[in-house]
Order: sequence, then C-alpha cells, then structure tokens
Amino acid sequence: MELRDRIAVVTGAGSGIGRAIAQRFARAGATVVAADLDLAAAAATARLAPDPERIVPHPVDVREEASVRALMAATIERFGRIDILVNNAGIGTTKDLVETDLDEWENVFAVNVRGVFLCCKYALPDMLARRSGVIVNIGSVAGLIGIPKRAAYCASKGAVVTLTKQIAIAYVREGIRCNCICPGTVDSPWVERLVAREPDPVAARRALEARQPMGRLVQPEEVAAAALYLASDEAAAVTGSVLVIDGGWLAQ
Ligand SMILES: NC(=O)c1ccc[n+]([C@@H]2O[C@H](COP(=O)([O-])OP(=O)(O)OC[C@H]3O[C@@H](n4cnc5c(N)ncnc54)[C@H](O)[C@@H]3O)[C@@H](O)[C@H]2O)c1
Repeated sequence: MELRDRIAVVTGAGSGIGRAIAQRFARAGATVVAADLDLAAAAATARLAPDPERIVPHPVDVREEASVRALMAATIERFGRIDILVNNAGIGTTKDLVETDLDEWENVFAVNVRGVFLCCKYALPDMLARRSGVIVNIGSVAGLIGIPKRAAYCASKGAVVTLTKQIAIAYVREGIRCNCICPGTVDSPWVERLVAREPDPVAARRALEARQPMGRLVQPEEVAAAALYLASDEAAAVTGSVLVIDGGWLAQ
C-alpha cells in the first residue's frame, strides 16, 4: 500500500492511461479524484475500482481556469489536501506544420500545456503550504524527438518536459517533487481510434508495434506502474527526471 491515505488528482482519468493510473493508485491505498472532460467516463473508472469509494469522479476541462480552480478547491474541501497531481489529460494531432490550422494548434496547446500549467497553478499552493507534494506529468516520446505528422503534439509535449524540470528546480527546497513520464505508443483507446482511421487498421497497428524494438505496444498498466513509483516515497530522491517507457524505441 505505497500510497496509503494519499489524496491524488488524476486528470484524463476516464480513459486509457489515466484510467489505469487511477486504478493502480486506488489499489495502492490512495483516494483518487478522477477528473475528466467526460464525467460519465470518469464515473465508469470509479465503478471499475475494487473499492468504488476510493475513486471519486469529477468533471474538469483542463483548458478552463475556472474549471481547474473548482476541481482543486473541491478536492481540498472534501479531502483536506492534494498530495499527488497527475497531469495526464492530453490530445493528439496527425498533421505536419503546414497542414495544421491555427485553431488546432491552439487547442492542442490549450489541453496539453495550458492544462498542465493551470492544474499545477491551482494544486501547488496547497502543496507548498504543507511543504509536501508530488506532481507526475505525462509527456511523450514525442516531446523528446520529432515524429512525422505530429507537429503540434511534439511541440506541446516538449513544453511539458521542460516545464517539469522548471517546476522541479523552482520548488525543490519546498518539499515538492515533479517528474515526467514519456511513453512510447500505448495500447489505449486513443491509439485504437488512430488505427481505426487508417485504410488498413491491422497493418497500421503492426507498424506502430514494429516502431518499438520490443515489437509490441506499451500497456497502460505499465505506465501506471511508473506513475505509482514516481508518486510514492520510494522515489523520494527523484525530481526533474524524465522516465521513458517505450519498448526500446529511443534506444536505437
Ligand atoms: N496512447 C499513447 O500512445 C500515448 C503515448 C504517449 C503519451 N500519451 C499521453 O498520455 C495521456 C493519455 O493518453 P491516452 O492514450 O490514455 O488517451 P485517451 O484519449 O484514451 O484518454 C484521454 C482522456 O483525457 C480526457 N480529456 C481530453 N481533453 C480533456 C480536457 N480538456 N480536460 C479534461 N480531460 C480531457 C479525455 O476525455 C480522455 O478520457 C495524454 O497526455 C497523451 O498525450 C499517450
């Protein structure tokens, strides 16, 4: 029970990686506020928990300041504090730069970067007042290398990686840790949607598997295990780090 009695906020907890993190944290003894744009999906995450009391669904649009402020205030009002924040909510794009409309660029940055900024901005004051808190950001391999057809996505995840390091350094003496997980391609509903849009979905999935030297996609639970480690006291000396979970993709 590595997270016994901890209070965690996980954004994007209604699907894929966020759902797996919420489940893993709840099994480790945390109470998880499962925040998502899709409240029904967050509620479904709560119903999947072994002890449904451990996961509390809450609506949020991480792009909206008032919505994020309300999420953090509601968590503190109900549970007294925020021990752990997982910034997982994110969206992707499948375009190179010239084809990317300004609206799409702005929306990717609003979710992937502004969302992380706002969630940290409204969770950190409680953590700083108690001189204790952990932030886990979900970046991507796309934040570390250039990937074709991912202009806005790569740029936004690059920002998440460097913001992680800035937060880590700014608050290191105040008891705050902040780390980033950079997954390769993960077997989530997002990737299912991506593959389903291709003319030959089976071949498209095989190509994604082949891109990672292990020849398979990463499972959401494998990312959740890393998030658990980083959020736990086992990682007490770890801050500003970037943990790549990519089946060997970047080692080539
Ligand atoms: N799947 C992958 O291959 C992969 C790889 C690397 C990084 N990631 C990152 O992992 C995170 C989760 O991805 P996933 O694959 O589980 O995606 P997903 O699409 O399965 O789930 C994303 C969740 O975020 C929620 N969300 C979207 N916009 C939101 C908003 N404005 N406010 C609140 N919630 C919002 C969605 O409703 C959804 O429940 C993302 O940050 C993504 O960039 C995914």
